[in-house]
Amino acid sequence: MNGAKVDFRGAAGEGVTWTLLATLYLRAWESRLPEPILGDRYAAEAVERIDYDFAALRRRVRPASNQFLVALRARQLDDWSRAFLARHPNAVVLQLGCGMDSRMLRLDPLGKLRWFDVDVPHVIELRRRIYPERGRYTMIGASVTDDGWLEGVPADRPVLIVAEGLLPYLTPDEARTLLSRLTGHFTAGGELIFDAPAPWMARLVEPFRWAPRDAREIERWNPRLRCAEQTPFTTHHRRIPVRRYRVLYRLMHAVPALRNAYREFRFTF
Ligand SMILES: C[S@@+](CC[C@H](N)C(=O)[O-])C[C@H]1O[C@@H](n2cnc3c(N)ncnc32)[C@H](O)[C@@H]1O
Repeated sequence: MNGAKVDFRGAAGEGVTWTLLATLYLRAWESRLPEPILGDRYAAEAVERIDYDFAALRRRVRPASNQFLVALRARQLDDWSRAFLARHPNAVVLQLGCGMDSRMLRLDPLGKLRWFDVDVPHVIELRRRIYPERGRYTMIGASVTDDGWLEGVPADRPVLIVAEGLLPYLTPDEARTLLSRLTGHFTAGGELIFDAPAPWMARLVEPFRWAPRDAREIERWNPRLRCAEQTPFTTHHRRIPVRRYRVLYRLMHAVPALRNAYREFRFTF
């Protein structure tokens, strides 16, 4: 990343695009803790580079508490990604709804991997101003609900599909069609990892349109998908470095409805 400021003020807008700056900001905030869970220094560098009203954003996102939700979620997906990539060094990684996420830099995968980050065209246009495309790293500007964008992605290598903070914004039909298109395309199989709220939680959050009741619902949709793990977001509460939030998350973990309010899923196919 070089030093010039990039103007996101008009471009980032509201709605779902706004959310990608919120998650970026929360990861940047968390990286400044003395013992961070994720420690995403690339997020901190990106926030430094972006010209945007982050003071107004901070008032909306309440980083002191929400940084942990975002850091725990990203850390779980990073851990699953690292484990998969250690087993499949020649894999393809396909990250859907990448926003300004820096997973590709955090995991720093070397060697024979190919990595594709996908988001809607105007987000990819912003992303290119912050993160350069290089060698085995490609960005695709397309809606995941469109036809055709998968055509250039190699289908004959094991694939890791990461969808962080994306699927709840799709309708159930769009999510189901996407999953079927993905498992149909990648003939060598792989893993699909993502997060999703519980249905009651999705009803409380304005832009959310889809929330699975449980992993079986997804297996019934798509018989190629087999759930390997479904992990409540509170599972790793011990990693939280601030005592009062560690206690709060531990209490939430003890109550089944709250524990399952937000989960991360790992499917194999
Ligand atoms: C909550 S943000 C998450 C961004 C990133 N994964 C992160 O964790 O910081 C949701 C992202 O999904 C993207 N998105 C929403 N609908 C999409 C679609 N139909 N196709 C591609 N990306 C989409 C948004 O543009 C946004 O970048």
